[in-house]
Amino acid sequence: MGKQKRVGIILAGGTGSRLFPITKAINKQLIPVYDKPMIYYPLSTLMLAGIRDILIITNSNQQSQFKNLLGDGHKLGISISYETQEKPNGLAEAFIIGESFIDGNSTALILGDNLFHGTELISQLKQACTQQNGATVFAYSVSDPENYGVVNFNDKGQAISIQEKPSNPTSRYALTGLYFYDPSVVDKAHKVKFSNRGELEISSINQMYLDQNKLNVEVLGRGTAWLDTGTHESLHEASSFVRTIEKRQGLKIGSPEEIAWRYGWINKEQILRLAKPIIKSDYGKYLERIASETSSSKIFLNQKYIKD
Ligand code: TTP
Repeated sequence: MGKQKRVGIILAGGTGSRLFPITKAINKQLIPVYDKPMIYYPLSTLMLAGIRDILIITNSNQQSQFKNLLGDGHKLGISISYETQEKPNGLAEAFIIGESFIDGNSTALILGDNLFHGTELISQLKQACTQQNGATVFAYSVSDPENYGVVNFNDKGQAISIQEKPSNPTSRYALTGLYFYDPSVVDKAHKVKFSNRGELEISSINQMYLDQNKLNVEVLGRGTAWLDTGTHESLHEASSFVRTIEKRQGLKIGSPEEIAWRYGWINKEQILRLAKPIIKSDYGKYLERIASETSSSKIFLNQKYIKD
């Protein structure tokens, strides 16, 4: 079998009922996390992994808004396709909806409301991309594991079981909304049955990989932030987090334009063209600024992106 490429899926449907009334008329993934739409963050994560073929799955009545925002991706040096999910039938449905897009390749799925940031992240993402056989998922220590899919480890640090929202969790490690799968995920997704809460659960897919001894669970350390943004409280916290780091460093978190530029997927003229129509905003000014970085700061910042 030839080497597959890795394609990415952002699952950006859902009802966003915990954010009502904000999400009654607008999709959760389009509301701001500080200075940019929420979907910029998961899009940036896939791009940081080096993934350039991306499918965005939205609710059917909201697809045009995503297209207005991101288009077909060519301005970012990537390709973006779109599919719709008729009902929030669960995360595992992404691989059924995305079957023809996946087309026998390996996949990375990210939830549209998940925000990752950290020093080790780029190398962990790139490492996960190299795995040809099996799955890589990420675990993160949280204070409220009962709200997540929780993974238990043995003494050797190997994952031994996954529990979906356990009432008495035996581990504090939650599985994050970022999953790397080999091409067999599509067949696996077709085998998933609706759960008691009426969803096609991603945990069922992870359990199948675990049963085959093919589930690699990477722990994201303290130096990495994983935030979800599904409630008013967590959304506000995520915005504060982004604002604090960006103000201190003068660098942005989760800017797809910046990543495209630092990875060399777009050139200076192209990033300036992206900055121009939004130049009245700090975001636009930032893009203009990084396009004109002196070569020394550019070399220093680019090292992080290129070295792995
Ligand atoms: P959730 O936060 O579980 O669901 P939700 O976004 O509908 O919000 P709420 O619980 O407040 O009603 O979803 C996590 C992410 O996955 C979110 O980005 C939306 C997305 N999603 C889908 O796109 N399709 C689905 O079927 C489900 C369950 C979620």
